[in-house]
Amino acid sequence: MQNNVLILDFGSQYTQLIARRVRELNIYCEIHPFNKLPGNLSDFKAVILSGSPFSVRGEDAPHPDLSEIRGKKPLLAVCYGAQYLAHFSGGEVAPSNTREYGRANLSFIKPDEQFFKGISLGSQVWMSHSDTIKSLPTGGVLLASTGDVANAAYKIENEETYAIQFHPEVYHSTDGKQLLDNFLIDIAGVQPDWTPNSFVDTTVAELKEKIGNDKVVLGLSGGVDSTVAAVLLHKAIGSNLHCIFVNNGLLRKNEFSSVLKQYEGMGLNVKGVDASARFLDALAGESDPEGKRKIIGRVFIEVFDDEAHLIEDAKWLAQGTIYPDVIESVSVNGGPSATIKSHHNVGGLPDFMKLKIVEPLKMLFKDEVRRVGASMDLDPELLGRHPFPGPGLAIRILGDITPEKVSILQEVDAIFINGLKDNDLYNKVWQAGAILLPVQSVGVMGDERTYEKCVALRAVESTDGMTADWVNLPYEFLQKTSNEIINRVKGVNRVVYDISSKPPATIEWE
Ligand code: XMP
Repeated sequence: MQNNVLILDFGSQYTQLIARRVRELNIYCEIHPFNKLPGNLSDFKAVILSGSPFSVRGEDAPHPDLSEIRGKKPLLAVCYGAQYLAHFSGGEVAPSNTREYGRANLSFIKPDEQFFKGISLGSQVWMSHSDTIKSLPTGGVLLASTGDVANAAYKIENEETYAIQFHPEVYHSTDGKQLLDNFLIDIAGVQPDWTPNSFVDTTVAELKEKIGNDKVVLGLSGGVDSTVAAVLLHKAIGSNLHCIFVNNGLLRKNEFSSVLKQYEGMGLNVKGVDASARFLDALAGESDPEGKRKIIGRVFIEVFDDEAHLIEDAKWLAQGTIYPDVIESVSVNGGPSATIKSHHNVGGLPDFMKLKIVEPLKMLFKDEVRRVGASMDLDPELLGRHPFPGPGLAIRILGDITPEKVSILQEVDAIFINGLKDNDLYNKVWQAGAILLPVQSVGVMGDERTYEKCVALRAVESTDGMTADWVNLPYEFLQKTSNEIINRVKGVNRVVYDISSKPPATIEWE
């Protein structure tokens, strides 16, 4: 790939953000751990070195050999990267005397420097480092300073090597994206030609080449990732893609039939397997959250495996794994961490399935998956669906699970979710759902005393599910929803709204 950017990861918490910003410029990039340079270095047109939790002076700090890169390709070194370049090329890096975290402003910019095109004095940059560059490396030319940091940016004479102490990838560095644009497009000459359409074209061609006339099995979940993966594969291999959509009996109300219909309307070769009874039987009496997850995972594999065996000569298993799941991050203790997360719902497939894995989305971030889906004209409603956990309503029914409880929760959830949609609130919320509590309370309906169940409603805003806050839904909406639930769902006499943030509360109650 001609316009590919390599990001060498030294373990910074911001490395993924660098990739995000580069992709936002419509430039393709890949993150690789510092100690595993990719074999196809010539495919990369420019290189970015990330920050790191290490000090360059530390014994265990990442000290990779950059002789294949430096001076040979345009190079942008960020934070630790900038210090690393200085430390090993005749400069001096020492502990800072002042705190250098958070906001700073550019107080000097070398005039007429292309690197700072469109960026003016005073521009806010974000710092996060405890070491500082005391003197520049051999050939270093100062490009910018801030109030506290004299050597905030430099370049190396006669090379396309640039180094910055601040983080252009964080939103708080106001002109960070412009700076990346200047470096990648103007200086390195990378073409911003990576768009969802170009991704679809290249991926479909690659999938055709890779898979040929083989058959592929894919587990659809009704979610965005598996659906977009299926549509891409369908474009490449048509009816040789065999999709399996399992009803575990813990989906939302009518979800199995409506999603199945939607998939069929999209021309996908999909088999709906209603295994509700098998799941609910296996779950009977289990009230431990992890126990429930284990049972659901096991039964899913059994059901999926039975179905996959019915597809004769299947050679591949397709998964909707996305980039955050596969990035090998560098652990703070040195060396790249070996842990690559497996896909939530298909993780741990048994060895005997012996299928080769194909993951067409594994280089995409979630919002890119949505953009790719949109470019293939997928239903916006499907692309905008809230995340829904693999174990479904099982982890929203606290305590043991019975068919009656599932059906109560499905009714409550449907009223809440449809209400959000009808009131134009659904797209303002990252995830929402109802939880059936193991609590009964006294109520009065007509002149009758009731002793019935209580449900909690939860709606959160978030960007990645790692942190979240409860959504300030209008009181009128909550009032109407609560009335509707209590009047229409038999067995429920009390509704509460969860106003806890994550942390400390998680999004799901189990
Ligand atoms: P928590 O509850 O950890 O949830 O704050 C964060 C996000 O992960 C989802 N979640 C799961 N998804 N299998 C899944 O596929 C699970 O076991 C699981 N548990 C939580 C949750 O819905 C939220 O989006």
